[in-house]
Amino acid sequence: MSLYEYFTSKGPSGFGYGSTAEQVTEGLSLAGQTILVTGCNSGLGQETMRVLAARGARVVGTARSVAKAKEACNAVAGLTVPLACELSDPASVRACVEAVKREGLKLDAIICNAGIMALPALEKAHGYELQFFTNHVGHFMLVTGLLDQLRSTGRVVMLSSGAHTQAPREGIQFDNLDGAKGYGAWQNYGQSKLANVLFAKELARRFRGTQRTANAVHPGVIHTNLTRHMNPVMSFLFGVFGPLALKSVAQGAATQVYVATHPTLAEVSGLYFADCNVLAPRADANDEALARKLWEVSEGIVAALGNEPASKVG
Ligand SMILES: NC(=O)c1ccc[n+]([C@@H]2O[C@H](COP(=O)([O-])OP(=O)(O)OC[C@H]3O[C@@H](n4cnc5c(N)ncnc54)[C@H](OP(=O)(O)O)[C@@H]3O)[C@@H](O)[C@H]2O)c1
Repeated sequence: MSLYEYFTSKGPSGFGYGSTAEQVTEGLSLAGQTILVTGCNSGLGQETMRVLAARGARVVGTARSVAKAKEACNAVAGLTVPLACELSDPASVRACVEAVKREGLKLDAIICNAGIMALPALEKAHGYELQFFTNHVGHFMLVTGLLDQLRSTGRVVMLSSGAHTQAPREGIQFDNLDGAKGYGAWQNYGQSKLANVLFAKELARRFRGTQRTANAVHPGVIHTNLTRHMNPVMSFLFGVFGPLALKSVAQGAATQVYVATHPTLAEVSGLYFADCNVLAPRADANDEALARKLWEVSEGIVAALGNEPASKVG
């Protein structure tokens, strides 16, 4: 297949590499739906919120601070609810969960979009490597905290990445979650993104017998603020060649919007998608025992974080 054919071809879903979030929702009305999107102030999250709101959904847009969330929400047309959710701060995540409950928001979908990538040096939150904590533990807390608010047909969409294949050979390094025994920018990003797939798999297993679904997606490679931590040369190359060689943000947001909303996926759960089609992830991403262990370890981490009073969110 030539590059041109690859970029323009469509998969079994009728969508493909070049499809945009607007195209995958063409003709859909999301009026009456409420969808929470983390990281709504930048890149794929911002475009996801814009398109969902344009299709009539009420979008609960979360960002690290309520000021950022408000600014992002004010920038799109439609119905939005700005909330703070700093994923590396358990008190902020709990406060976000409480705010959703207090507002009585019933969620049709939760799109766990926020993330950080390839931090050049080891950084930690609450004793854990920061990408694992932000990308996985923060979202684990948020989603499990919001399950009572998720509608009976609700969908959970985890933003993973093709970079989940960069995770350590043994999958999740349960004996090195603090990075003390070794750290690699891409390996640890990969581990956090493998955790996103495993979390979706285990959630899907727990949803079996219900109409709720959980899936993971790779959005493609898109030049966004995600490259801010990369080495400056790579970041520069992304900036220069990105518009020519990579997906646009409109295309990058398509897969998560598709999986969160498309009527044909109402009963599709426990899968990994790229370019709006099902793709096989790395083999151990399908390992049920690994997924279950990650869930149990994550529950232990969250329990040990304690239950300090939630800070105020708007
Ligand atoms: N772009 C790609 O090529 C690509 C490829 C594969 C997967 N992905 C995944 O796609 C998702 C979206 O990435 P993007 O490309 O849109 O990146 P982005 O433009 O950098 O957006 C990331 C979002 O996550 C937020 N965020 C980061 N740390 C957070 C924290 N501790 N608490 C709450 N929010 C936090 C950011 O907030 P601030 O702006 O305040 O930092 C921002 O809103 C990520 O999960 C990423 O791993 C992207």
